[in-house]
Amino acid sequence: MSKTIVIGSDHGGYALKQVLIKALADWGYAVEDQGPDCLESCDYPLFAAKVVDRVKADDAALGVLVCGTGQGMTMTANRMGVRAALCTNEFLARMAREHNDARILCLGERVTGQGLALAILKTFLDTEFGGERHQRRIDLIDAVSK
Ligand code: RB5
Repeated sequence: MSKTIVIGSDHGGYALKQVLIKALADWGYAVEDQGPDCLESCDYPLFAAKVVDRVKADDAALGVLVCGTGQGMTMTANRMGVRAALCTNEFLARMAREHNDARILCLGERVTGQGLALAILKTFLDTEFGGERHQRRIDLIDAVSK
């Protein structure tokens, strides 16, 4: 069974989201688009919440959130209790998975071009969590956040 990638955006990330959905399907992932389904102005926390809820419900799934800058999506997802990383290059994407076990990749359509965004996404998906000392550290994120 192919891995599920749950994706969402606001209007500011809609065009990049469409590009990412096509690539994910081409790479063989099962893609769940949580909206929006048009470019009409909308509020990013509502779509971040849909993706976060799905990722929380499925340990095997990963998420992608795109808005204009990626900032609002990142803030919302982390506050809802899922590790989400705003990545603007491939190194950040690799570290977000390997060291931080990020479950959601956040991208800014007004910041990152389509070619780089695709490379960031591929790196994020291809990198495994490193475990060991990094597990202790992400457990501590939850411990100090209580
Ligand atoms: C929408 O104009 C914009 O504020 C949003 O896409 C995002 O950048 C917020 O963080």
